[in-house]
Amino acid sequence: METCQSLEELRERIGDCQRCPLARTRTNLVFGVGSPHARLMFIGEAPGRNEDLQGEPFVGAAGKLLDELLASIGLDRREVYIANVLKCRPPGNRDPLAEEMEQCTPFLEEQVRLIDPEVIATLGNFATRHMLKTQAGITRLRGRLFRVDGRKVVPIYHPAAALYDRTKQDVLFEDFRRLKAVLDAAADEQKPSQPSVEQPTLF
Ligand code: URA
Repeated sequence: METCQSLEELRERIGDCQRCPLARTRTNLVFGVGSPHARLMFIGEAPGRNEDLQGEPFVGAAGKLLDELLASIGLDRREVYIANVLKCRPPGNRDPLAEEMEQCTPFLEEQVRLIDPEVIATLGNFATRHMLKTQAGITRLRGRLFRVDGRKVVPIYHPAAALYDRTKQDVLFEDFRRLKAVLDAAADEQKPSQPSVEQPTLF
């Protein structure tokens, strides 16, 4: 897609999107929320029921856990940016389809370009596979640090997967501590001018 000057322009460009059949079942398109200059960006899967109704990402039970995780490292959702792979809710919260991702992810790419975060945390399988161009699952990838196009990418469990799983919740809180360390370290580093994909390294 053609590049935009701002998130507002991108939102206007998306408009009352009818590019895929999710337009017929959605209530609101969920663009994203947070600081346009965030150093840390979170990418989830797709809006759920509450997000569809309110037009904001992560406002349901998983969102409450995300807010707690952010608070545990001294951050507030207004200081980061939160978006999803899909901007519209799949009916019944089913998995995103390949065609839907193909239509929708150019908008996510443009959000990433405009916000230009130093660190991206991918929440769960869909966001992680999209950003890392892999088929590997989140359980194998979490706990590792990747670099894509000069940005650090940190795959972590989706908060919804940890809602009723205490062990996963503990892992998430631990991964957020590591995320904070990655963010602090990124502040001291210079971004390479050329895009690069490096081998994953352990935290
Ligand atoms: N799950 C997601 O992946 N995104 C949301 O916005 C809400 C729940």
